[in-house]
Amino acid sequence: MTQWWRDATIYQIYPRSFQDTSGDGIGDLAGIRQRLTHVRELGADAVWLSPVFKSPMKDFGYDISDYRAIDPLFGDMAEFDALLAAAHEQGLKLLLDFVPNHSSDQHAWFAESRSSRDNPKRDWYIWKDPAPDGGPPNNWIGNFGGSAWEWDEHTEQYYYHAFLTSQPDLNWRNPDVRHAMHDVLRFWLDKGVDGFRIDVVWHLAKDPQFRDNPPNPGWKPDQPEIQRNLQIYSADDPFVQEIVEELRDVVEEYRDRLLIGEIYLPIERLVEYYGKNNEGLHLPFNFQLIQSPWRGDVIRDLIAEYNAAVPGGGWPNWVLSNHDQPRIAKRVGGAQARIAAMLLLTLRGTPTLYYGDEIGIGDVHIPLARIQDPWTKNEPDTSFNRDKARTPMQWSADPHAGFSKAEPWLPPTDDCRTRNVACQSEEVGSILSLHRALLALRAENEDLRRGDYRPLEASGPIVAYVRGKSIAVVLNLSSEAIELDLPNECRNGKVLLKASTGQPGGAVPQSIAGDEGIIISLAGTHE
Ligand code: GLC
Repeated sequence: MTQWWRDATIYQIYPRSFQDTSGDGIGDLAGIRQRLTHVRELGADAVWLSPVFKSPMKDFGYDISDYRAIDPLFGDMAEFDALLAAAHEQGLKLLLDFVPNHSSDQHAWFAESRSSRDNPKRDWYIWKDPAPDGGPPNNWIGNFGGSAWEWDEHTEQYYYHAFLTSQPDLNWRNPDVRHAMHDVLRFWLDKGVDGFRIDVVWHLAKDPQFRDNPPNPGWKPDQPEIQRNLQIYSADDPFVQEIVEELRDVVEEYRDRLLIGEIYLPIERLVEYYGKNNEGLHLPFNFQLIQSPWRGDVIRDLIAEYNAAVPGGGWPNWVLSNHDQPRIAKRVGGAQARIAAMLLLTLRGTPTLYYGDEIGIGDVHIPLARIQDPWTKNEPDTSFNRDKARTPMQWSADPHAGFSKAEPWLPPTDDCRTRNVACQSEEVGSILSLHRALLALRAENEDLRRGDYRPLEASGPIVAYVRGKSIAVVLNLSSEAIELDLPNECRNGKVLLKASTGQPGGAVPQSIAGDEGIIISLAGTHE
């Protein structure tokens, strides 16, 4: 067992937006294959693809109608096999997105399940009688707004959907469902995929009594409706841990495969997903950096709290952006996005980098008529428009940023003629060169990958720490210069990399400029 993922950087690709080769304005598998060199030159080690399976695309692939087929929009199975082979040839691992909580309502299983109350697959989904008043069985709300229950005229029961009405939840308490899904995993593992990111894994088991969720006293009408109640009974039931252990058993039938889980829960609940004896997920996604304000005190505390919570034998991980959240450059601004990159790529644990962040894509204006996100269509005033995080990758100054020959499904940024891979590759000090330099340093420096984490005394906007025996990192989360009071081993060291330039920087300065971050090689550890 190599546990390669402890040393790896994961790169998330949103397939609709990476590279279009078919000319329909939507990315595809052939495009991803063509652009693998970018991932390799960047220095990432593994690619995670958001779903590419057969789907009516109501939730852009997170609504799967056949778990073992590639959607024609993206290509076919031969193209997938070619992509997997090309990735492996280039030394990259390939991770798929497993969406087990719900299928599409177009899946053959659901068609059977809804056909009659006594169909053998009836119990594969979650069906309930109405409440005594004829309304939904309980007060659970869908993540995209509205009741999570949909009435079925034909069989006169409600079915449960945590997301869109077209995404019915599967019943994971039914062993036949679990076995069918295990076989789905084996199907892809047999092909040689290196693991999975599991969608909304904490949703897999609900309260067996389906009790009402209690109201959230802090909810305000400008927040999404799902937050109106506390999600106590609708998710994170203890039975999820058994489900996860079984999934882990399946990947353990193979060598060196990875299970990552998407989990939005407080730290103390999140770390349960490692399993009592690390028999759960290898990496329960840690979204603390996405969910916290960008302030020195907050970041120092969350690193400490998270590190203390990760169980012995468990391995930490860090995420800055994904396809559901505002991009890091939008949240903290272009200058601080460089500091955030330095943080992500020097903390202890596996980093996940989101495509487009390496060129600093920030806010994108999506005209009303072009909105795609089903959540925003349901809740225009309170949701984050996820389209903003899903715009096309910007490759060059060519039309449509080199992403497609046709008008893309979402617009690129206004500055895409200069904010693109080709331009930034030529530009010394670009945010792309910074990412490449950070990943190169991480690859060559074992302390950055595996070394212990030790915080350095810091206050205000400064976040500072030592990695292993040889490296220190000092980050200024503000735009003001700050005097430094570093220990001797740091002061007498040398600057290996500056966030502002992506270059080495000579002697360690007495004060750190605004929007600056430095990686220091400690005194006595370099020649
Ligand atoms: C996850 C996905 C998100 C999707 C939802 C429902 O949160 O990341 O994009 O809409 O699950 O599958």
